[in-house]
Amino acid sequence: MRVLYPTPLLFATAVAAVPCQQYILAPPSRNLRPVAVRLQSGSLSAATDLLDSQVSLSLILDTFNSSVTYDFGKNVAGSVNFNTTSNGGALGFTFTESSLWISPEASDATADAGSDAPLVFNLTAAGHYAAPIDRERGAFRYLTVVNLGPGQVSINDLWVHFTAMPHWRADSLRNYTGWFHSNDEKLNRVWYAGAYTNQLVTIDPTRGDALNYLNVITSNSTVIGTLDWWLNTTITNGTSTLTDGAKRDRLVWSGDMSIAVPGIAVTTFDLISVQNALDSLYNLQNASGLLPYAGYPFNKLGIVSFTYHLYALIGVESLFHYGGDRSYLDGKWAQWKAGMEWAVAQIDDTGLANVTASADWLRFGMGGHNIEANSILFYTLNLGVALARHQNDTATADHMGLFRDNETTTLAPQDGNSWAVKSGLVTNVSQVVQILNALQGRWGQYGAPAPEAADAVSPFISGFELEAHFAVNRTTAALTLIRNMLADFMLDDPRMTNSTFIEGYSTSGELRYAPYTNDPRISHAHGWGTGPTSSLTTYVGGIQLVGAAGATWAIVPQVGDLTHVDAGFSTTLGRFSSKWFTNGSVFRLEISTPKGTTGTVGIPFPGNRMTATLIRADRPGVHVTADDLGRYWITDLAGGDHQFVVVGW
Ligand SMILES: *[C@@H]1O[C@H](CO)[C@@H](O)[C@H](O)[C@H]1NC(C)=O
Ligand SMILES: *[C@@H]1O[C@H](CO)[C@@H](O)[C@H](O)[C@H]1NC(C)=O
Ligand SMILES: *[C@@H]1O[C@H](CO)[C@@H](O)[C@H](O)[C@H]1NC(C)=O
Ligand SMILES: *[C@@H]1O[C@H](CO)[C@@H](O)[C@H](O)[C@H]1NC(C)=O
Ligand SMILES: *[C@@H]1O[C@H](CO)[C@@H](O)[C@H](O)[C@H]1NC(C)=O
Ligand SMILES: *[C@@H]1O[C@H](CO)[C@@H](O)[C@H](O)[C@H]1NC(C)=O
Ligand SMILES: *[C@@H]1O[C@H](CO)[C@@H](O)[C@H](O)[C@H]1NC(C)=O
Ligand SMILES: *[C@@H]1O[C@H](CO)[C@@H](O)[C@H](O)[C@H]1NC(C)=O
Ligand SMILES: *[C@@H]1O[C@H](CO)[C@@H](O)[C@H](O)[C@H]1NC(C)=O
Ligand SMILES: *[C@@H]1O[C@H](CO)[C@@H](O)[C@H](O)[C@H]1NC(C)=O
Ligand SMILES: *[C@@H]1O[C@H](CO)[C@@H](O)[C@H](O)[C@H]1NC(C)=O
Ligand SMILES: *[C@@H]1O[C@H](CO)[C@@H](O)[C@H](O)[C@H]1NC(C)=O
Repeated sequence: MRVLYPTPLLFATAVAAVPCQQYILAPPSRNLRPVAVRLQSGSLSAATDLLDSQVSLSLILDTFNSSVTYDFGKNVAGSVNFNTTSNGGALGFTFTESSLWISPEASDATADAGSDAPLVFNLTAAGHYAAPIDRERGAFRYLTVVNLGPGQVSINDLWVHFTAMPHWRADSLRNYTGWFHSNDEKLNRVWYAGAYTNQLVTIDPTRGDALNYLNVITSNSTVIGTLDWWLNTTITNGTSTLTDGAKRDRLVWSGDMSIAVPGIAVTTFDLISVQNALDSLYNLQNASGLLPYAGYPFNKLGIVSFTYHLYALIGVESLFHYGGDRSYLDGKWAQWKAGMEWAVAQIDDTGLANVTASADWLRFGMGGHNIEANSILFYTLNLGVALARHQNDTATADHMGLFRDNETTTLAPQDGNSWAVKSGLVTNVSQVVQILNALQGRWGQYGAPAPEAADAVSPFISGFELEAHFAVNRTTAALTLIRNMLADFMLDDPRMTNSTFIEGYSTSGELRYAPYTNDPRISHAHGWGTGPTSSLTTYVGGIQLVGAAGATWAIVPQVGDLTHVDAGFSTTLGRFSSKWFTNGSVFRLEISTPKGTTGTVGIPFPGNRMTATLIRADRPGVHVTADDLGRYWITDLAGGDHQFVVVGW
């Protein structure tokens, strides 16, 4: 047996962390100025004078309809401010997330028809103008300034007051508690774009969408042209709330939260916005225990959803899991049980829920013994109550190796199959592998399709599929999906914002989300597209909270094809981190967990080796053998800092 001691040099290499702050997309202050001119039209001069890099110069728009489109370089949110030296005339501003909808005449859309009207300022005197409080814009990368008067207009300053994360100090928007860095830039960018997306969808609860278009659209769905929009509906209590999308809908949706909340926990730990959102749903629980499909004012439409009901139950468990606040759980427990009882009451004599509350994430065919709904139900039952009833439905896998949506169809959905694995409903390893191979076999150039929603790629459901691959150690497959779908397409495609994640698109890569009839309506900052952020921390960093807030934990890094990862985040108990390096013959791991906690470490052996020398600081190396899956386990480890080096034989 070789006996090795750690040398300072060996650990120094692992400690040499690349600073991660440079990846944070949140701004250092709330005053944002554009970084580039994207388009100019008509007679004008000095368009670049209003860029962030310039000072005290003036854009001059000479005539009616002269316009400049500015690029903020990333998706932003807020209210337009400008200073003019003109004392007459009028200016219009239009907004769009995607470059596809740049126009001096209209913004992209928040309604399911037409587009949104420009924000118009009549100039009565020189000086400072600001958008009214209810006319902030929830997300845009491009801002077009257009002269709407007959004569020349001069603008000598233009900025946007950033309104997302209203409860955080203006100089602390980059106040992350988590970080992720690896040798793969694509993964790093995806992690931080997920973090930023969840910040953009965290809003002042008095600035919810008034949904004023619903009347217009439902009374005449052929309405075209521009529609007015205003953000003046109070959707939750408190001073901040998590919503689904920054531009649209700006409402509380429990389904979206199921992806966003773990992402928030490992990045900003902004749990109060989650709590305010959940409270607003539980305030609307009905006497039978049913929770609403979405928060106020959408709940007024009376649409019911079995799956979103379950997601609202999962949300409470998730908040407790990360925050560990027992009094919060106590306060929700009676309502939680009533909600669980409502769900269990949907189970019929076959042992499966027969879904009649059929609204879901805009997939079709959510009814009967649906596999997605039943997998989520199984998962939810396992979360907290002793009401679990065993479901013998592994036999329903069809010839493709995938579950069918229900007994009367051959359609094999992405959502139900991903949930069947994620929930632990399928325990047979060869069947799990068969399901995930079959899902992977369907991946196209633009990502993982969801045939249960026609021609759609759903970043939401792909978040669950991704988690399923990671959960069963299909690490390289999961990383491939993140790189191809999230980085190469969802960030880098020129129609995207390169900073936040879109809600859905077609399998051919067109920015069309089939359930909607109006393409400009698609939200490009949707929390439900941020699945990789928490998955990278949980599986690649390997940091898993076992007990609430991490009182007990496990650190089980998945290597895939990576060589270097540095990940961490904090909960109410303190900071958890995992930093590792491998070159195929050595695996080094440094972990840090709060004092007073205990946990388990599953150290992967380098390069598929099964025997190695394990070195811990200040101890002689010992010869160790890997388990069947290539790991060496150390249990009952006390919280604190630990370093391990495994040198393969
Ligand atoms: C304004 O200019 C745009 C091009 O920037 C053009 O498409 C549009 O037709 C013009 N509108 C009017 C009313 O002239
Ligand atoms: C600007 O002035 C026009 C013409 O007087 C008027 O129709 C319009 O309502 C005004 N718009 C705003 C935002 O004040
Ligand atoms: C624009 O107006 C604001 C508010 O009055 C002022 O603080 C700012 O300095 C002005 N900008 C320029 C370039 O004068
Ligand atoms: C920074 O983040 C922490 C943890 O999320 C939060 O408690 C604190 O209020 C934030 N600080 C500011 C100034 O926003
Ligand atoms: C809808 O509005 C359009 C345009 O105003 C009109 O032509 C059409 O008749 C309306 N349809 C209905 C069903 O009211
Ligand atoms: C929101 O603004 C619109 C337009 O000004 C107004 O009609 C509506 O009453 C406002 N709603 C609330 C809740 O203030
Ligand atoms: C705010 O809290 C009060 C008291 O619990 C409740 O009645 C009200 O519905 C809440 N508002 C929202 C928008 O959830
Ligand atoms: C069964 O699944 C198919 C495919 O998703 C769907 O078309 C059908 O409506 C579903 N049945 C029910 C009762 O929802
Ligand atoms: C589900 O319940 C509905 C309404 O009671 C019923 O029509 C339908 O046949 C049931 N579906 C199954 C698969 O049992
Ligand atoms: C599930 O299947 C197992 C094995 O076939 C059987 O022992 C068990 O009774 C079944 N459970 C139910 C509820 O049908
Ligand atoms: C994945 O790896 C973990 C850690 O080694 C192990 O506990 C788990 O059983 C594995 N899952 C499968 C399906 O191999
Ligand atoms: C997206 O942003 C990154 C920096 O985060 C930059 O390196 C890359 O070139 C940008 N991609 C595109 C297509 O703009």
